[in-house]
Amino acid sequence: MIGSIPEEKIQLMRDGVDIVGLISRYVSLKRTGSNHVGLCPFHAEKTPSFSVSAGRQIFKCFGCGLGGDAFEFLMRMEGLSFVEAATRIAGEMGIDLEPRQLSSAQAQQREEKERLQKIAALASEFYHTQLLQAAEAEACRQYLNRRGYGRTSATEYQLGYAPRQGSALAEHLRQQGANLEDARRLGLIRARDRGEGDYDLFRGRLIFPIHDLSGRVVAFGGRILDAGQPKYINSPQSDLYHKGAVLFGLYGARQAIRQAEAAILVEGYFDQLALARAGFTHAVATCGTALTSEHVQLIKRYTRRVLLLFDSDQAGRKATFKSMELLLPVGIEAAVVGLDAGEDPDSFLHTQGPEAFAARLAAARPVVEVYMDECLTECAPGSAALAQATRRILEVLKLVADPLEADLYVQELAQKTGLKPEMLRQQLGQVQAPAAGGSSARSAQAAPRGVSAPAVARVNNQDPQGAPVLPVAKRQASSLTPAEAKLIRLLIFEEEVRQQVAHQGVENFFVDAALGQMASEILYQLQDVVAGQEVATLQRFTELYARLPQPLDYDPAEYADAGEQMLEPYRKKAADRRRRAMLKKQS
Ligand code: UTP
Ligand code: MN
Repeated sequence: MIGSIPEEKIQLMRDGVDIVGLISRYVSLKRTGSNHVGLCPFHAEKTPSFSVSAGRQIFKCFGCGLGGDAFEFLMRMEGLSFVEAATRIAGEMGIDLEPRQLSSAQAQQREEKERLQKIAALASEFYHTQLLQAAEAEACRQYLNRRGYGRTSATEYQLGYAPRQGSALAEHLRQQGANLEDARRLGLIRARDRGEGDYDLFRGRLIFPIHDLSGRVVAFGGRILDAGQPKYINSPQSDLYHKGAVLFGLYGARQAIRQAEAAILVEGYFDQLALARAGFTHAVATCGTALTSEHVQLIKRYTRRVLLLFDSDQAGRKATFKSMELLLPVGIEAAVVGLDAGEDPDSFLHTQGPEAFAARLAAARPVVEVYMDECLTECAPGSAALAQATRRILEVLKLVADPLEADLYVQELAQKTGLKPEMLRQQLGQVQAPAAGGSSARSAQAAPRGVSAPAVARVNNQDPQGAPVLPVAKRQASSLTPAEAKLIRLLIFEEEVRQQVAHQGVENFFVDAALGQMASEILYQLQDVVAGQEVATLQRFTELYARLPQPLDYDPAEYADAGEQMLEPYRKKAADRRRRAMLKKQS
């Protein structure tokens, strides 16, 4: 992956790319005067309000307001990071992006990653061939057949079979002359404690390869073929695989998600497969982990609507509401698809078929509504339980990104509880107290140059005259504490810190949802960036940039070795706070 892209090359691409040609691949464009127009690919419309100017090298939709240069178009359209988009454009224009000087550490890292990718690809190939050809895999093929998957699906999803024999993969890799140490680092094989050689992680299992956004295999999930335990084994985290940042099936589902203007989020590998096979190709699954804010960032690249479709059991409900807490603050509309008790999407499709399923999708209910009902069931009017439940609901309403939407929910809550809307608004304001206290002065300071007053006001949830729009102020980064601002700076300027946070999960460092969201965006935009280019890169993302602490400077001396030292206590504190918040919620 490309590290640094020199400014002059970016300029070269921005000026020289055939933006009309590029966009024509996605949108049918007609020439009108000096512009080209077509139907906007980013929102549904019947009359064209999407315009491309070859002269100015930009696009603009007068319907939804989106606009930008060729990089931005590709980033939105394909869900790419800036570096990825630039790499593509450079490839087409024949521009060599090979960084002039990767630091030796970076060069080494890149080389290691490529080696790991090769091993993962080799392993995937091996498992797949086994499934198609090995006599021993007959049981696995039959298992798949029983669940309705034949050779076509096996090929389409590159499914595999891991032989029962304890070191089949290790031996295969050795024969291929692969570096076994790399395979160990991926967790695919492990050196025996006693005796010679390695043994395989996956044995006698059906294998699901897990792909990254470029379609490369980064990890595997393996299902047992009988009722044994554990049902699934997954690749451990590695330098190739951060499970909190990968969604199973996303590589194949990206276009469908954009077209459907929604992503279906399911729990299981088989759920994803079953949905795709039934024609619901816009589904993705978390890989045996809870949804993370990095997942949310990924999804947000493609859509602003998520249909939560977790198993219909206690754990599924919990996962639904946990996901809700991550989705609401970033303005993703989340709705819950209801299944009958004990069902998962896979079993539902089997018993009731695609049409019944489509009906369930259409009947998805906003997750906040579902949450309200869940909290309010069996609360007698006027009871203490009702007050408790109302408070829990208000906690969630404060996460809703759009103040107008939040207020609609307040009205709904008033109806459901018989409490007065004004009182609920006032309570909501109080839950929000931390954001209100004296943050406006600081945010005015924090506004980067070139950001207009209304934009600053909006950041602070006030209208330009300074009057609060609604008591529902979304907590903004303008209210960063000094410690938080410091951590954000570290995140921006220290690659090692970024890696650590990415590896351990943003949630572990940032309890506050808005802050966690900011951190995820930073991680996403700065992946593969080279030291020295961080600020320049972030400046391209005006909306994000406006929320960052200012001035955005960094004196390494001041932070000398601070990375390790300050992250650890911060992480502990965050964990503590989260625990306390949870206890409070439960009590
Ligand atoms: P489920 O137990 O619901 O399995 O776990 P499933 O996907 O429905 O599989 P089938 O249909 O019974 O074969 C949901 C997901 O949780 C993760 C896997 O990603 C699985 O797909 N999981 C489950 C594990 O990682 N380990 C386990 O032991 C079980
Ligand atoms: Mn399931």
